Amino acid sequence: MKLILLGPPGAGKGTQAQRLVDKHGIPQLSTGDMLRAAVKAETEVGKRAKAVMDAGELVSDEIVNAIVAERIDQDDCAKGFILDGYPRTLAQADAVADMLAERGLHLDVVIELVVDDKALVGRILKRAEEAKAAGQPVRKDDNAEVFDERLREYYKKTAPLIGYYYANDLLKQVDGMAAIDDVTAQIDAVLADTLRN
Ligand code: AP5
Repeated sequence: MKLILLGPPGAGKGTQAQRLVDKHGIPQLSTGDMLRAAVKAETEVGKRAKAVMDAGELVSDEIVNAIVAERIDQDDCAKGFILDGYPRTLAQADAVADMLAERGLHLDVVIELVVDDKALVGRILKRAEEAKAAGQPVRKDDNAEVFDERLREYYKKTAPLIGYYYANDLLKQVDGMAAIDDVTAQIDAVLADTLRN
């Protein structure tokens, strides 16, 4: 099973991806996590990405496409994977289609978490508060100001993927405003349906 979780910042992509990892035994490929690890390790990619991420903008297609192409060749991806936060531009969507085709693979489904924008900033601020209270590091982009830019980037560059995948007959939508367990149940139903067809 190879699937994409699509949605704006704070939609619940990471939360649901974690649950799918546990249930289906396939890895979560989060470009955000991979980039944050590169920033922490101060690699060349991390140095190039840091300021862009801190500002809430998107890292270049070239960088993220290269990271994903390398990652999907690892053994744990043989049975499939969950793309979380990738692709995020039309160029990335074309790149992943090519990457998969070159390997004789294809995407099974793209699941869009449909959410109300107004709820998102609240989720992000809550996450920042919880991290702080637990003595954990707070993401540099988890504040109201940077969140605005993340959402703008989403609408400018990522939202067009909804039409792209709809036109490719791959898009399924779930109500991302529901409680976390209910969203999981909706995703399970989509995947069961996808596996049947
Ligand atoms: P990334 O790490 O991908 O961040 P994001 O897309 O902004 O997503 P988040 O992790 O904030 O939200 P999420 O949808 O995963 O929600 P979550 O489950 O965490 O990207 C960060 C940056 O990296 C980008 O800005 C960019 O710079 C760069 N980057 C990454 N990928 C890139 C790419 N492909 N191309 C270019 N640049 C890239 O949930 C959020 C909170 O809400 C949590 O506290 C959670 O508990 C809560 N929550 C979840 N679901 C619900 C629910 N149903 N009800 C109530 N609360 C909920």
